[in-house]
Amino acid sequence: MLETELLNEKNINIGYLENGKLVGYLITLNLGDEVEVLRIGVHPNFRNRGIAKNLFNSFFDILKTQQIKKVFLEVSENNKFAKFLYESLGFKKLYTRKNYYENGLSADIYGLEI
Ligand SMILES: CC(C)(COP(=O)(O)OP(=O)(O)OC[C@H]1O[C@@H](n2cnc3c(N)ncnc32)[C@H](O)[C@@H]1OP(=O)(O)O)[C@@H](O)C(=O)NCCC(=O)NCCS
Repeated sequence: MLETELLNEKNINIGYLENGKLVGYLITLNLGDEVEVLRIGVHPNFRNRGIAKNLFNSFFDILKTQQIKKVFLEVSENNKFAKFLYESLGFKKLYTRKNYYENGLSADIYGLEI
């Protein structure tokens, strides 16, 4: 699934390089008039330095050129830092999918209109 999305030219996928090495990435799925963020990750040694925010801001800049205004994503209820990140970018929690993951945790769905 992820490999297919990475190869799909309609999707916006962004990498953050430091000294030529990939330390952060953002992978998305283009659904026409909205986009789902499938993955965002930053190498543990490079976290809390604004790299994820930087990736999102580059992503929003690209969305604006494509007239796409709606972004949504799913996050585990206990992923504190990811929720900090999304809320600091203006995402709002839309609803919760109870017991969504195999470990019994719920998923929160967040959305943003840019
Ligand atoms: C979630 C993740 C992508 C954040 O990446 P990051 O580059 O560290 O995030 P940023 O430095 O851009 O921080 C964004 C906000 O989150 C908060 N934050 C992030 N990490 C934090 C930490 N360790 N301690 C306190 N706050 C933190 C900051 O408050 C920051 O907001 P601010 O700039 O207004 O203070 C990173 O922790 C990660 O890769 N986690 C594992 C993968 C994951 O959980 N992905 C999300 C799946 S839904």
